[in-house]
Amino acid sequence: MSTALSTQPRQRPRTPQARSVLMCRPAHFTVAYRINPWMNPAEPTDTGLAEAQWQTLYDTYVRLGYDVRLIDPLPGLPDMVYAANGGFVLDGVAYGAKFAYPQRAAEGPAYLSWLAEAGFRAREPEETNEGEGDFLLVGDTILAGTGFRSDARSHAELGRVFGRDVVTLRLVDPSFYHLDTALAVLDPTPGREHIAYLPHAFDEASRAYLAGRFPDAIVANDADAAVLGLNAFSDGYHVVIASRARDFARQLAEHGYDPVGVDLSELLLGGGGVKCCTLELR
Ligand code: ARG
Repeated sequence: MSTALSTQPRQRPRTPQARSVLMCRPAHFTVAYRINPWMNPAEPTDTGLAEAQWQTLYDTYVRLGYDVRLIDPLPGLPDMVYAANGGFVLDGVAYGAKFAYPQRAAEGPAYLSWLAEAGFRAREPEETNEGEGDFLLVGDTILAGTGFRSDARSHAELGRVFGRDVVTLRLVDPSFYHLDTALAVLDPTPGREHIAYLPHAFDEASRAYLAGRFPDAIVANDADAAVLGLNAFSDGYHVVIASRARDFARQLAEHGYDPVGVDLSELLLGGGGVKCCTLELR
C-alpha cells in the first residue's frame, strides 16, 4: 500500500460483485414526444438499430455474469426501454414509479406489477418519482435527485419505505434531468463508496455535499457527460459506459476499474444511455 505524498489516484483492489438487473427490449422505441432536450420528434429513429444496440448491452451483461431479467415491452410506451425509471428496488422491496409526464404514466403500474410477480414486496408511490433514474444507492445512503422529474416529497417517502438516509441533490441543467445522467455510483459497498459526477449539473449545496462526502470522486468532463458517459452501470470492477466517453474510460482505468464500452447512440436520441436501460434488483 502506498502512503501519502503520491499524486497518482489511489489504487484500490476492485472486485466485481454479483448483479441482478431488469431490462426492456426497445421493440416500440421511437421519439414521439419531447420531454427532455435530447428528444426531437422531427428527427427519424431506427427501431431496429435501437434493438441491435440494446442487444449488445444485454449480451455484455450476460457475459459479465449478471442475472438479467426481461419485462415485456408494451406498444404505445416508446420510453419503456429506460427500465431504470420503472421503480427503485432494495431489500426485496419495490417502490413504484409515478412519472412526471403523462406520456410515461402507464409504465409505473406495468413495472410495479412485474416486480410484484417477480416476488418483490410492491409499494405504491404517492409522490411523483422516476425510480432509479433519480435514486442511487451508495453505502447506506440513497442519493436522490430532484429539480426536473422526481418531486422532493418522494425523497421523504423513499426514506419511510426503506428506512435509509436519503440525501436530496438538486439538478440544475435540463440536459442532465435525471440523477443517473449526472452521477454514476462506481462502488456502493459501505466503506468503499466511490462515485463519478459532473459538478455543474448540481446546485451549490449539492456540489458541496458531494465534494465533502466523496473527496476521491472522479470528476467527468463536459464532452463525456454530453454523450451520457456518466449514465454507466458498475459492478464494482467492470463499468459499462458509452463507448464514446473516452476520457472517462481512461479515468476509470486509472482508478482500477475495467471500463467496458457499448454504443447506444440510437437510444441517446431519447435522452438515455446504459444506466437508463438498467434497473437493479436487490
Ligand atoms: N425519454 C426518457 C425520458 O425523458 C429518457 C429516460 C432516461 N432514463 C434515465 N434513467 N435517465 O423520460
